[in-house]
Amino acid sequence: MTHLPAKAARVLVTGGAGYIGSHCCKALSRAGMVPVVYDNLSRGHADAVRWGPLVKGDMRDGDRLAQVLKEERIDAVIHFAAFAYVGESVQEPQMYYDNNVGGMIALLGAMQREGVKTLVFSSSCATYGVPDRVPIDETMAQAPINPYGRSKLICEWMMEDAASAWGLNYAALRYFNAAGSDPEFELSERHDPETHLIPLALMAAQGTGAPLQVFGTDYPTPDGTCVRDYIHVSDLARAHVLALDALRGGAGPLKLNLGTGTGTSVQEILDAVERVTGHAVPHQNSPRRAGDPPELVANPGHAREVLGFEARWTNIDEIVGHAAPWFMEAPKVAQG
Ligand code: UFG
Repeated sequence: MTHLPAKAARVLVTGGAGYIGSHCCKALSRAGMVPVVYDNLSRGHADAVRWGPLVKGDMRDGDRLAQVLKEERIDAVIHFAAFAYVGESVQEPQMYYDNNVGGMIALLGAMQREGVKTLVFSSSCATYGVPDRVPIDETMAQAPINPYGRSKLICEWMMEDAASAWGLNYAALRYFNAAGSDPEFELSERHDPETHLIPLALMAAQGTGAPLQVFGTDYPTPDGTCVRDYIHVSDLARAHVLALDALRGGAGPLKLNLGTGTGTSVQEILDAVERVTGHAVPHQNSPRRAGDPPELVANPGHAREVLGFEARWTNIDEIVGHAAPWFMEAPKVAQG
């Protein structure tokens, strides 16, 4: 009797052309699964889709999503596609609710129609707002202070209701600050416009960007600058594979913080960038940015218990070091 190999799971990855999504596709492929990317390329990059097919489509197009779930014989979904700039969400709230909440409405409708019941969702520590204490654990109140965080919390509620109504099984993964890039240098972080601290500090240090503005130096933190928990994007990607395996093995619903448990201040990031690049980071002190809580650090204990997940890259210099080559000054053409 011949044994056929077990069927490789086919996973729809919405937003799979983006920063975290593309790293996740690589991790899924390494784990023997087939990532089928669904992305409208408004903020993602087609050349980051390298581990499976790319289907171009909008998140709010429920009929198209249902058609893709059926035609691509999808077993499970990982949903990244969303707008994710805190500052922009404060300026353009309706745009955030339309895309992030509207996208989830269309996705859940399509999944229910096609009988796909497994969903890993890209949530955020922004759903906690300004926490009473750090480190933050999953039992703490979720009270977001900006439209981005609110849109993610609404999506968590929608999944909870879908679980009761029609048996959705889901994992809400609340990321802290995704950072770094693929240690094998196959994928990078590319945002347009770039608003994230580490890329901007690298560009400032290497002379390819403007001096960095340090948003707030009067926070109630040890050096007065904001503290965040920077987790390597390849660690985040691996956590998605573990969450998917756990759901497919019968666990769920899951609500998990993904962080390292260590806080790093803006000033400490500038110091790390200086050590990694050998250049000081030109910077100026600026007012606080709207929507920024002073300190966000994860208690990673629950993800460790449930998934056996532990961040592998915990040294901030290594995390910055994986991102740095992508922000080097382009070689200058000799002028004749
Ligand atoms: N910062 C600066 N100057 C800059 C950019 C950022 O001082 O030019 C500071 C911010 O004020 C913040 C820290 O650096 O204190 C990190 O800022 P990022 O913009 O890199 O990241 P955020 O913390 O704003 O956002 C990230 C994710 C969001 C997520 C959020 C949770 O990008 O998706 O964490 O707070 F929701």
